[in-house]
Amino acid sequence: MTYGGGGTVLIEALNHGGRRGLKITFEDKGPGIADIETAMKDGYTSGTGLGLGLSGAKRLSNEFEIASRPGEGTRVTIIRWK
Ligand SMILES: Nc1ncnc2c1ncn2[C@@H]1O[C@H](COP(=O)(O)OP(=O)(O)O)[C@@H](O)[C@H]1O
Ligand SMILES: [Mg+2]
Repeated sequence: MTYGGGGTVLIEALNHGGRRGLKITFEDKGPGIADIETAMKDGYTSGTGLGLGLSGAKRLSNEFEIASRPGEGTRVTIIRWK
């Protein structure tokens, strides 16, 4: 939320033929991320963070998707199966 300036979080329960999981979507209309590849690197931060937010979320999830446009905002979707 530090960079996005606040946004929304949507948590959805998935049940795909008995396979259960959670899909979490984070969306903001912040500055966006110009260089996603760099932002995803372990330890990279443009601020004072640990730089482990995005890379950590990817590691902890089974499916990870990030979409961002500079000046428009960022959407991160993760799915974690049980
Ligand atoms: N929602 C966002 N909007 C704009 N930039 C972001 C967003 N999330 C992450 N970033 C950029 O990606 C970098 C890495 O993010 P992250 O891994 O969460 O580390 P940290 O939050 O500790 O800086 C941030 O420093 C920032 O530059
Ligand atoms: Mg972060």
